[in-house]
Amino acid sequence: MKQHRFGKLPFVVGDVGFGAWQIGGSWGDVSEADGRAALNAALDAGMTFIDTADVYGDGRSEKIIADVLKARGGTRPMVATKAGRRLNPHTADGYNKANLEAFIDRSLKNLATDSLDLVQLHCPPVEALYRPELFAALDDIQKSGKIKSYGVSVEKVEEALKAIEFPGVVSIQIIYNLFRQRPADLFFKEAKRKNVAILARVPLASGLLTGKIKRDTKFASDDHRNFNRHGEAFDVGETFAGVPLETGLQAVEELKKLVPAGAGLAGFALRWILMNDAVTVVIPGARNAQQAKANAAASDLAPLSAETMAAAREIYDRLIAPLVHQRW
Ligand SMILES: NC(=O)c1ccc[n+]([C@@H]2O[C@H](COP(=O)([O-])OP(=O)(O)OC[C@H]3O[C@@H](n4cnc5c(N)ncnc54)[C@H](OP(=O)(O)O)[C@@H]3O)[C@@H](O)[C@H]2O)c1
Repeated sequence: MKQHRFGKLPFVVGDVGFGAWQIGGSWGDVSEADGRAALNAALDAGMTFIDTADVYGDGRSEKIIADVLKARGGTRPMVATKAGRRLNPHTADGYNKANLEAFIDRSLKNLATDSLDLVQLHCPPVEALYRPELFAALDDIQKSGKIKSYGVSVEKVEEALKAIEFPGVVSIQIIYNLFRQRPADLFFKEAKRKNVAILARVPLASGLLTGKIKRDTKFASDDHRNFNRHGEAFDVGETFAGVPLETGLQAVEELKKLVPAGAGLAGFALRWILMNDAVTVVIPGARNAQQAKANAAASDLAPLSAETMAAAREIYDRLIAPLVHQRW
């Protein structure tokens, strides 16, 4: 597994990390045993970065992570969590010091630690990013020792550009994949210039970029690929990266022709992301050990050729960009 420095922080992480939303909830039935097995397989395969959130299964994901890490002992991987989505209503006003401290205290308990490696604001309303007092509050919490660092998870490129104006922001988490190429246009250059770490999320477009989803694939009622198809519960861009399924399936058929021998479409999709050296860590979600192990292996795939990169871009420009490029 290739290693990357985590922006300004003294952490070094493997470039494929573990997305822990699946072991919390919103992805149909993922048993606790499968969740533990997925995380153990990820760590056995050399992953050293975990992305979770306090709302994933209302703390279930954080608690499974704490249990697995305790049972394994040894060097702890870097664990990033998120705060803010427990707010109801989810407003910029809610992003204040008292609420954040309460969320952080709860995550400290769930993750069974006395200091969180990284807390990310969890896609806050854009207005929150225009409140320097919010970032001053995070600086205070950091000084107290409860968090080692903080970052922001965002929906849109412009939110990312705004967030990194605050010098305390060490990382940005954003959707970047074969179906979401706009972050690389401007934001990545800015992030690199400021030495801000980039976490590429939804790298497989919620599974679409594995090639296994078909027009008639059925998802459980508690899987967001069923209940958030049209953005009913949260930003529609979090489900299939916001790409209409029919168009996504058409693009997948074309992308399959670009996959090098010995790789699958999922590995290809992850390797494509890692071709951009601004990306610190890609965080595919995994619901079982097999997926976690396969995803870790993407780090060691050979670089993609310039022809393959150009062909992937052509498919994006022709089929996907008209529907997504200017939306996020
Ligand atoms: N707002 C935010 O900050 C935010 C939002 C979304 C995600 N995230 C983070 O980003 C992580 C990744 O995003 P995501 O989980 O939404 O989407 P993703 O990584 O694009 O897709 C995950 C899905 O892809 C399939 N998959 C994964 N590895 C596979 C493999 N090797 N072979 C076959 N299928 C595979 C699985 O589908 P099946 O379940 O159908 O098997 C899995 O549930 C999350 O876990 C979470 O940590 C953060």
